[in-house]
Order: sequence, then structure tokens, then C-alpha cells
Amino acid sequence: MAPILKPTKSNIKKAAHALLGGSLIGIPTETVYGLAADAENHKAIARLYQVKARPLNHPIIVHIGSAHQLEKWAIEIPDYALKLANKFWPGPLTLVLKKSMIASDYLTGGQDSIAVRIPNHPAAISLLKEFHNLGGNGIAAPSANKFGEVSPTDARSVVQALGANLRNEIIIDGGMSTIGIESTIINCLSKEPEILRHGAVTSLQILNELGIKVNPQVKNTKLRFSGNLKKHYAPIVRIILDGNPQFGDGYLALSSFNTPEGCIRIASPQDSFDFAKFLYFSFRKADQLGLERLFVKLPQGEGIELAIRDRVLKAAIK
Ligand code: TXA
Ligand code: MG
Repeated sequence: MAPILKPTKSNIKKAAHALLGGSLIGIPTETVYGLAADAENHKAIARLYQVKARPLNHPIIVHIGSAHQLEKWAIEIPDYALKLANKFWPGPLTLVLKKSMIASDYLTGGQDSIAVRIPNHPAAISLLKEFHNLGGNGIAAPSANKFGEVSPTDARSVVQALGANLRNEIIIDGGMSTIGIESTIINCLSKEPEILRHGAVTSLQILNELGIKVNPQVKNTKLRFSGNLKKHYAPIVRIILDGNPQFGDGYLALSSFNTPEGCIRIASPQDSFDFAKFLYFSFRKADQLGLERLFVKLPQGEGIELAIRDRVLKAAIK
């Protein structure tokens, strides 16, 4: 059984040594929990693909503890990407950049780009710093779930998501992820930035705070990224978006909406940020209750709501 450990100094040290020795570690981040491996250890990454049952050509994000480490992984970094990093790191933003020599094919899915971010979670940052002190350059970490399934947002859900495939890998318990959906991914390979995956850092925010316009469409259609997968983030329960919920259906909506008669209220988020935080929690809860259908009333808006609608619409595809 995979041990769940509190992020004490000694446990973080233990985890950093284990990573350097080639083990996988479950790590908390502010977005979702990740399954981490030394980004330069191809055997560890091979096991990571196996545990996640992930297609081999699907690229992985490298996590670093400080912006100084960016140059290890990326070259020819455009000015706008540096501005984005300065403004939003540590935070829920991943930048796709031209890869350096050490960024191997098993991280990039054979593409010539690498995705990098600094997560904003104290335990993740401590681990990344400790790992760097031991000589490590970066930690590869996809979300800690099987490919196509729901990302975990707490330590116990990592065990539920991957349990059978784990041996005795450590999972660091950093509490519930505060954001609850995966990072925004921005393609920085073109002259202008492009959104590859919506998240808590929004185009609107980037425009308002930095005056940088992010294209909502991707020009390079050969690029492989989760945004162009159809079905993803999917629970077992059927997600219903239209029509009226029926007796016995699960119901997820902002707290301003009353629960329709006979429905089972799964969560009552106060606002859109709360909605994102409890979205995957709600999917898992509906599955644990063995519900057949979960009726989701999508929040409207062009901020984080875009990311919420993206996840729910992909989860709803059968
Ligand atoms: O919030 C997050 O980003 C979480 C936490 C753990 O950091 N990680 C995460 O990883 O969501 P994952 O593997 O579940 O999703 C990362 C996505 C991949 O699906 C892939 O589409 C995209 O990032 N990606 C990674 N490298 C890329 C690259 N070189 N070019 C384009 N997309 C890339
Ligand atoms: Mg994922």
C-alpha cells in the first residue's frame, strides 16, 4: 500500500532522495496532484507511463523550483514568455517552449518543445528545491490519474485513482488542491502566444495585467496537447448538461441554484473559483455514490469558467 506522508522536512528529504533514486512520488500542487519522476531518468519515466496507462507519444510537463532552472530545459525563450513567467510563477501556468538538449523525447513525445511550470504549493516547492540541491534539474509530473480519467485533488484520491498500479510509492499529503483544475497551458513557439489548455490563469487576466494578447486558437495543428483530445477528465457517471434533471440524478450547480426536487446535491460552490475547486471532487463523489447521471449546471463567464466548461464538456463525451 502506498504510504501517505505529511510534508515534514524529513519526509520531503526522503521523497527527494527517492525521486533521485528513480522512484515515483505523488505530489500535491495547487492545481491537481501529480505523479512525479526525475525528468532525466528514463526508467522512472517509463514506469510513470506504465502506472498511468498513458500513450507513449503524450508529452509531460517538467516542474522546476525556480525560474533560474528554466534555461536548463528551454532555449530561444521569447520576451513575452519571460513576462508571463515573471508575472504568474509560481502558479497555475505552463509554458510550452523550444526544448533544450536535456529535454528528451520521452518528455516531449518526440516533439521539439518542452512544457515547464513552477507550481504554487509549499510542499511541492520544498520538494523541488531539495531535489535541486541534490543535483536534480526538474521533476516530470503528469496528473496522478490513469489516462483520460479524473485528476485527483487530494492525497487519498491519488491512491484511489492509481492504487492497484502503485507499489509502495510515497504520496505527500498537501491537503486539498486550492484551484482544483489543471494549469493553463500556453504555446510560446509562435510569434504570439496561443492557449493550448484553459485554466485558472485566463487570457483576460494576461491581457489586463501584461497587455499581452493570447490567441484563443492554435495555428500549428500538428502539436499534440490535451486540448485537442476529445474525451478526457471523465468519471464513470454520465454527465448531463441539457434538459431537466430527473429523480435520483446527482446535481452540481452554484449555490444560488436550488436543488431540483428528488435530486442528490453533490456540491454547492459559492462562485466559479469554488466550482473549479470542487469539480473533480464532485465527479469522484458521484462515482462513489454509484450514481448513473450527474446533472451539471455550467457557470457562465469568460474567466475560469472557460476552463470549467472545457473540462465538463470533455467529461460529458461518451
Ligand atoms: O496543473 C497541471 O498542469 C498538472 C500538475 C500536476 O502540474 N499537470 C498536468 O499534467 O495536468 P498532464 O500530463 O495531466 O497534462 C499536461 C498536458 C499534456 O496532456 C499535454 O497535452 C501538455 O500538457 N503538454 C505537455 N508537454 C507539451 C508540449 N511539449 N507541447 C504541447 N503540449 C504539451
Ligand atoms: Mg492529466
